[in-house]
Amino acid sequence: EKGGYPHFMIKEIFEQPKTLADSMRGRVNVDENNITLAGFIDNKEKFLNAKRIIITACGTSWHSALIGKYAIEEFARIPVEVEYSSEFRYRKPVIHEDDIVIAISQSGETADTLAAVELAKSKGAFIFGICNVVGSSIPRNTHSGCYTHAGPEIGVASTKAFTAQVTVLTMLAMMIGKEKGTLSQEDYLKIVYELARIPEKIGVILKQDSTIAEFAKTFTYAQNFIYLGRGYNFPVALEGALKLKEISYIHAEGYPAAEMKHGPIALISQEMPVVVIATSAGMYEKVVSNIQEIKARKGRIISIVTDGDEVVSNLSDHIISIPDTEECLVPLLAAIPLQLLAYHIAVVKGCDVDQPRNLAKSVTVE
Ligand code: F6R
Repeated sequence: EKGGYPHFMIKEIFEQPKTLADSMRGRVNVDENNITLAGFIDNKEKFLNAKRIIITACGTSWHSALIGKYAIEEFARIPVEVEYSSEFRYRKPVIHEDDIVIAISQSGETADTLAAVELAKSKGAFIFGICNVVGSSIPRNTHSGCYTHAGPEIGVASTKAFTAQVTVLTMLAMMIGKEKGTLSQEDYLKIVYELARIPEKIGVILKQDSTIAEFAKTFTYAQNFIYLGRGYNFPVALEGALKLKEISYIHAEGYPAAEMKHGPIALISQEMPVVVIATSAGMYEKVVSNIQEIKARKGRIISIVTDGDEVVSNLSDHIISIPDTEECLVPLLAAIPLQLLAYHIAVVKGCDVDQPRNLAKSVTVE
């Protein structure tokens, strides 16, 4: 059932070219230069008139929510708030009848996210679910939604469900933006074209698996890791750090790269591995100067760069290069090497990657 792979997690990482194609199937049509998302079309007026969108989720799904915020705000110009379900449900959140609340959940069973859905529904908001497990509790309790179609995810650490969530959120942001006219036709077409190429580009990145496995061995000594990114890549840094914590039990923190100088840079020494997402699409020069600050303090730099990069490559101890794409789509590519890095570090450390200690696949208790 693991299809020849030693663990479900690595099988699921390698499935991503297919699962993302499945997420886009019948939705992205490059020949007609179009995206159709039934969940959006059925509720078009609600999305076009929304004054605000609140996204509620936990864990990895909360990270995809953050990427969704960047895309919806950029393309649809609707303010988006991203909430941890557990905080949202227990405060007295302000929820208006013309708010849209998007609940993101792989399992569709996370207790706090389900409770957040019920609370928002009782306040009259329109609730839209982005879930993977068909027929699970959250989709049954929302007004409408969109399945991610990543297929069953068995490994406790979420991988293919995350990239499928980001894909659906990106398609949703593009559709709202196109209909509202806040996303130009030219940009829309460029992103549709690039989105359709993401599965094959992930295939190319996966070919570096053995290189990543090799240098992962160098880092099993580490007690701590820092992950940095800016813009769309900031939530990817958070997600990379979460993957490492969950399965290798190495403490890791993700930060927006520019926040380093406000405190965390004090942690940098030659012992500290720092993973930096430094792709050409997305504030490259700014990230370069952040890397120089770390280099000056002798941090060990592992960079995710765009093919052909020289500047960051010269500053780094290890690099993983990924194909170029549109800025909003970089998370779909940059997440892959971070999943592989966490996986291989955990495997070399002898950890049970599919069943990490203290974790359950679906958190149905609060
Ligand atoms: C991380 C992970 C958890 C889940 C979180 C939410 O790898 O698996 O952080 O993302 O428990 O679960 P869902 O998406 O099922 O609501």
